[in-house]
Amino acid sequence: KKVVLAYSGGLDTSIILKWLQTEYGCEVITFTADLGQGEELEPARQKAELLGIAPENIHIEDLREEFVRDFVFPMFRANALYEGLYLLGTSIARPLISKRLVELAHQHGADAVAHGATGKGNDQVRFELSAYALDPSIKVIAPWRLWDLTSRTKLIEFAEKNQIPIAKDKRGEAPFSVDANLLHTSSEGKALENPAEEAPDYVYQRTVNPEDAPDTPEYIEVTFEAGDAVAINGQKLSPATILTDLNEYGRKHGIGRLDFVENRFVGMKSRGIYETPGGTILLEAHRGIEQITLDSGAGHLKDCLMPRYAELIYNGFWFSPEREMLQAAIDKSQEHVTGTVRLKLYKGNVSTVGRWSDHSLYSEAHVTFEDDAGAYDQKDAAGFIKLNALRLKLVANRNAKFK
Ligand code: ARG
Ligand code: SIN
Repeated sequence: KKVVLAYSGGLDTSIILKWLQTEYGCEVITFTADLGQGEELEPARQKAELLGIAPENIHIEDLREEFVRDFVFPMFRANALYEGLYLLGTSIARPLISKRLVELAHQHGADAVAHGATGKGNDQVRFELSAYALDPSIKVIAPWRLWDLTSRTKLIEFAEKNQIPIAKDKRGEAPFSVDANLLHTSSEGKALENPAEEAPDYVYQRTVNPEDAPDTPEYIEVTFEAGDAVAINGQKLSPATILTDLNEYGRKHGIGRLDFVENRFVGMKSRGIYETPGGTILLEAHRGIEQITLDSGAGHLKDCLMPRYAELIYNGFWFSPEREMLQAAIDKSQEHVTGTVRLKLYKGNVSTVGRWSDHSLYSEAHVTFEDDAGAYDQKDAAGFIKLNALRLKLVANRNAKFK
């Protein structure tokens, strides 16, 4: 029996690795992805080798470009926000990890994949719905739902018994759980569990405190083609490089911090601290370019679809017919979302201060307060209002009868 494990190299997935070998007696293949979490991945290789994994069964891949190009950017075309605020940084990474787990399972002739998400969260749902959508016959092993290592003490005991190296700071209770990639860092649990208490400053890892950000604003320009960012300050860059650079601007100016209580798919509420510096800038920039390039009908409809689309991603339905259906509509809307946005970054804020495009629908000739030289006949508005008011008058007259 063979199983492909999503392996971070950390203590928890190392315990899972050992547990799969001992409890399941199966051959473990490890998969470690660089999604821009900002960690060295070679230690994960060394640790896997130390735990007895054959070199040909260790996979370490840089997926940053694919992550941004095929997952983050399509999602940003929709301006997706879950429950009005969350930019879905963890949610959007899970389908890609599952896709590679399933592909590697096929490559190695494995019949199962395994992940380190707990039985209480969203991530288990996302990993598994994606895996089953891509291979209906795949088996998924979720050790957190199976084993009896239910406390930190038991985990550490298991690690010691099995010669798994434990970093000094992992011996005690970890202060909170972190998930990071190029789009965001999320921190949850432990010290953050009381939503009434402000999060301590040390939780924030990739943005300066807005209070300590530079006192002078900085301006940048982001250029879009068909809804995707392609250049910063006139310089063409790859998708992952764009997000990396925007993250740096956001870090410096303290942009993209969020303290949020959300509804998990499994029913409970949870409190998280999110840092999405580049993503927050990208959302503002994308909305800025849509302001002049999107028709109002298309724009308003896509804004109606957005909460549904965001919920699908949050709930793990990236690989579903309805997500693909909405994506097709959203992508169609982006055909003319091409042009440049000028943004002002200042102490935790990002604001659009200018936008221009060859595809613009903005007509100064029509909107001007000066003489429009016959572009728009104000008399037309009288009939427009009269017919729109007709049914309102009928309702008001009817209601007056029943007062
Ligand atoms: N609540 C976020 C989501 O469901 C993040 C989950 C993972 N974060 C973590 N710190 N373990 O997308
Ligand atoms: C987990 O439970 O593994 C992380 C949190 C989540 O998935 O929502």
